[in-house]
Amino acid sequence: MEKSFVIKGNVCQTKNPKELDLHEKAFAVCVDGISKGVFDVLPEEYKELPLYDYGDAMIFPGMVDLHVHAPQYAFRGMCMDLELMDWLNRYTFPEEEKYEDLAYAEKAYGMFVDALKKGATTRASIFATRHRPATELLMKLMEESGLISYVGKVNMDREASEKLTEDSAEISAYTTFGWINAVKDKFTRTFPILTPRFIPCCTDKLMEELRQIQMAYGIPVQSHLSESKGEIDFVKFLRPNNLFYGDVYDEYDLFGKNDDINTDMKTVMAHCVWSTDEEVELMRKNGVYVAHCPASNMNLTSGIAPIRKYMDLGLNIGLGSDVAGGHSDSIFRAITDAIQVSKMYFRMVDETYKPLVFSEAFYLATKGGGSFFGKVGSFEEGYEFDAIVMDDSILVHPQTLNLAERMERVVYLGLDEKNITAKYVAGRKIL
Ligand code: GUN
Ligand code: FE
Repeated sequence: MEKSFVIKGNVCQTKNPKELDLHEKAFAVCVDGISKGVFDVLPEEYKELPLYDYGDAMIFPGMVDLHVHAPQYAFRGMCMDLELMDWLNRYTFPEEEKYEDLAYAEKAYGMFVDALKKGATTRASIFATRHRPATELLMKLMEESGLISYVGKVNMDREASEKLTEDSAEISAYTTFGWINAVKDKFTRTFPILTPRFIPCCTDKLMEELRQIQMAYGIPVQSHLSESKGEIDFVKFLRPNNLFYGDVYDEYDLFGKNDDINTDMKTVMAHCVWSTDEEVELMRKNGVYVAHCPASNMNLTSGIAPIRKYMDLGLNIGLGSDVAGGHSDSIFRAITDAIQVSKMYFRMVDETYKPLVFSEAFYLATKGGGSFFGKVGSFEEGYEFDAIVMDDSILVHPQTLNLAERMERVVYLGLDEKNITAKYVAGRKIL
């Protein structure tokens, strides 16, 4: 697979949250899957490389979906009348039960992977279900897509439907060991991530088992945190002695960097809508990522995560679609939703937290979440070359637009849901 080439077009990115970095009719250079930078004039040393000229098309870094549920893609855009805990019991668990059946999983996961591949997302951190065979099938499909992802077999040994609850903590752990051993060296673009569903679904015994597994394999962790009021009350009831919700994950060393046991473990927690100051401080200290999922937080009436506050404090933050709490897998939508909910937070909740501007939300969707995968989310030298190419001429307009206006419009008008012309992931052309 060819991994050294040049693409030409209107390159738009955010090297930092404060400003757009725009290059008209410029050259983005990829050597061995790694970006060499963006150039207005192609340097002599790259003139021998194959050049793909996309004319007046727009070129962005690929989008990162830091939190998405593959099995829930099947019921996206439906079942939006309940809050989290009731929504899980009434709609989500019954759908996830179906992934016991590999034929159903193949059909449904095929549709999910196809959609992800055709959209703007180049990297994702994905929840599967608690079923090992279907999770391995999803990993195989993700690998074939050329996208780069973490995929988690979900751990859940209480408080779900009977069929979806694993029989015991030991069985959950044993299955997880077997799964990690089977997949950890199997793929080049698809990696396992430890995935306790959330505290209500994980017994203390299971959390202890997961601590052992994490220490044995050093793999990253993903879960949910402080999403919804009903959920948080339930966690308080289940774990009365913990200081705050995140403290439970931390008690089992599943909450980012841990100086006590000297581990540096990447962890991403979805939502963090209602995190207390203590919880936020521990996340900052441990480098825990926030996956901000604004559409889900609106659909499930969870609330608005104070992302401006988290940005000011220097937390690691990316965006997530949280399909099917979020109804769309588009990270372009997550960008505009993040801006819109931050405006509502400013107006309705606290006017000291200024709304996000476009460059900030675009940064979260690219470099912000991208750093969970390494040097990802930019065309700066040394970054893995993830690019999407889009022809915005189908978005008609009578007036002359500059590149900044075109970039914003491509995102707001959802060009990713209409047409992606080409897509590169770590230098491999997958579309
Ligand atoms: N918390 C535990 N499971 C889920 C889920 O599937 N979706 C969301 N949004 N929150 C959760
Ligand atoms: Fe989720």
